[in-house]
Parts: sequence; structure tokens; C-alpha cells
Amino acid sequence: MKKVTKAVFPVAGLGSRFLPATKASPKEMMPIVDRPLIQYAVEEAVAAGVTDLVFITGRSKRAIEDHFDKAYELETELEMRGKMDLLKIVRDTVPSHVNCIYIRQAEALGLGHAVLCAAPVVGEEPFAVLLADDLLDPQGDLPVMRQMVDVYNYNRCSVLGVMNVDREQTKNYGVVSTERDSGEIQRVTGIVEKPKPEDAPSTQAVIGRYILTGRIFDHLRQLKPGAGGELQLTDAIASLLQEEAVLAYQFKGVRYDCGSKLGYLQATVELGLKHPEVGAEFAAFLASRGS
Ligand code: G1P
Repeated sequence: MKKVTKAVFPVAGLGSRFLPATKASPKEMMPIVDRPLIQYAVEEAVAAGVTDLVFITGRSKRAIEDHFDKAYELETELEMRGKMDLLKIVRDTVPSHVNCIYIRQAEALGLGHAVLCAAPVVGEEPFAVLLADDLLDPQGDLPVMRQMVDVYNYNRCSVLGVMNVDREQTKNYGVVSTERDSGEIQRVTGIVEKPKPEDAPSTQAVIGRYILTGRIFDHLRQLKPGAGGELQLTDAIASLLQEEAVLAYQFKGVRYDCGSKLGYLQATVELGLKHPEVGAEFAAFLASRGS
């Protein structure tokens, strides 16, 4: 029985919605309270049993590699000063049993192309895809990718994380049609990238969490440019589901779209309020200003 042990993180995007903050540093390194966005996604994958992290990077993304690398000078300095708690935080960015693999995507040809760049490393195995822009705060103890791996282990087929959105919002997402109108786990019958509200087959939107079987690569290789002239992962999934079952899973948790300024601020407030070090004081601060 093949397990999900690999996760792909497409991180080559320009982050133009956050310029000038993203002029010289990756959007995935923007912090929510004290951890960069990419670290939330990595922790979610590791908690789901992933041991190989495959980053699809591009220009100006060195900081991501440095973040998950050993930081000799910093660690020596902290050790010398006896700052053991900080040393632990620095060393724990990635557990020692986890490997980081970096593949460069020379041209930004779309999400489908980014995922295809991982084919030589992933091979035939099922794998996870996590878009770090989407920060998922789980409801209950199980991180969202862990929930999805459980669905995968039971059903042995591709699983897409979905949530309901307002109909006007369908133009921002991949949107699925399913066998039934509601239910936590549904068989996908169709999927389209960023449909206009009037054309959307439903209001169930795909968020940036996928478990895909290795067969997706054959479909990615045949792709023609789709919405926005890009090679769309959504189109390859549409083709995959002609051949294999694909499930839509209504995850338990809240999704923050940290690719937008508003979503980023919302995540900062909500995770700030839950933060063990500053949460209580931050709550008092917000209350004092009447928000
Ligand atoms: C990508 C996918 C889209 C998905 C979305 C989730 O779009 O192409 O299908 O719904 O992520 O965040 P992007 O937000 O990169 O334009």
C-alpha cells in the first residue's frame, strides 16, 4: 500500500499583490506572527506523515532554502549565549527525519507546469500539493492535510480540499461539480478553472490542498495552455477524472487567503489571538480599541 510521503510546494510565484514587500524576498517568507507562511504549510505536511518536501522554486527564492537549512553562525551564536529556547526554535524549522529537495522552475508557466517539475522526484507515488498562500487553521486536532491523508488512505484515490464560496467568488478558484449537492466526501464529476459565476457548475471551490496519484503527471504532460494562458493543474485533474476516481473533501477548518492583503491581515489577527506568548495581550489591545 503506497503512502503519501512526498509533498510538493510550488513557490515560484511572483507575489505581485504584495509589492513592494515581495520585490526582493519571497511572498512565502512573509510572517504570520512569528512564522513564515511556508513554515505553516511545511508543518501541516509533516504532521500528515510527509518526509520529503519538494519545493518548486524560482528567481529570488533563496530565502526559502536558507530558512530550511542549517544556520551555523546563528546556531553557534545562540548556543554561546545560552539561548537554548531560541536555539530549539531555529533547529526545529524542519525535523531531522525530513528531506528538503529544491527544483527550479525556470519559467512561470502555471501551477500545472510547477507540479510537473516534481515528476522526476515523485515518480509513480501518490503525493500532496500545498499552496502556502492558503493558510489552513484546523477545527479540532487534525491539520487539514492529515484529514486528507486519512481520506486518501481509506479510498486510495486523488483527493481535493474544497470549501463553499459565494457564487461571485467562483472566478477566483477551481470549481468542482460532484455526484451529490452536499456531503463531506463527494465524487468529483467535473472541474473548471476560475469560471464566471453564471457558468460555475457549483459553489464548491478547490483550495490549495491536493493529494494526487502519480497518474496526474501523464495528464500534465499532455496539457495545453488554459485559463490565463497558463498550464492549469485544474485541467489535468479534469482529464484525470475521466480515468480514475477523484474525491472532493470538505475540510474541517478555516482557510485564510494569504495571497490577498485582507486574508493576510485576517490570519494575522486570528493566529495572533491564539498565540501562546502574545494572544492575551493582543486580545486586550483589540478590545481596548473597540474592535
Ligand atoms: C490556484 C488554482 C485554483 C485554486 C486556488 C486555491 O489558483 O489554480 O484552482 O482554486 O489556487 O487557492 P491561484 O490562487 O494560484 O490563482
